[in-house]
Amino acid sequence: MGAGRQVSISLDGVRDKNVMQPKKLNIALFPVCYNDKYYADALASGDFTKLAYYSDICVGAIACRLEKKEHGAVRVYIMTLGVLAPYRGLGIGTKLLNHVLDLCLKQNISEIYLHVQTNNEDAINFYKKFGFEITDTIQNYYTNITPPDCYLLTKIISQTKK
Ligand code: ACO
Repeated sequence: MGAGRQVSISLDGVRDKNVMQPKKLNIALFPVCYNDKYYADALASGDFTKLAYYSDICVGAIACRLEKKEHGAVRVYIMTLGVLAPYRGLGIGTKLLNHVLDLCLKQNISEIYLHVQTNNEDAINFYKKFGFEITDTIQNYYTNITPPDCYLLTKIISQTKK
């Protein structure tokens, strides 16, 4: 990528003003159409949703939803994580995921999870590197894509490393 020049990768928040950026990325990245609730949840999650810029080009994003569990604890659901194909393998996905994992540690959040299509080996291997484990298989989770099945990947974050 590039001609040997150092290019910085930076993260930026999602606001009403730039919400078109994740919309454009999602169209390019995912075979699923995301509804208004997805974007409302992403905006409401604050720092848990970030865009990644390669120099000044928006090339990736992580979008999370914060969920209240019993007794007031919060868990994080990764709705989407994606990097445009030409920019993969440059550490951008790692930077986005580590940002969210660091926030979980800082905010004493001990559970983070996501759904991934069962044939998405790249993403499954990627998440396993960060300690996510397959905790369930859900048949017919998706309605418009093949295969329709997904894995539930979960990571329990140890709060002892702080
Ligand atoms: N195959 C094997 N390993 C891979 C791949 C791949 N295609 N992509 C990344 N990795 C590994 C790398 O080897 C790297 O490990 P290393 O640093 O030890 O070499 C590690 O994963 C991190 O790589 P990054 O460069 O940080 O990851 P990248 O920026 O390429 O993003 C991502 C990874 C987000 C999974 C990307 O491949 C992508 O956008 N895929 C398409 C969208 C997608 O499927 N997203 C996940 C769907 S599930 C969900 O959104 C909840």
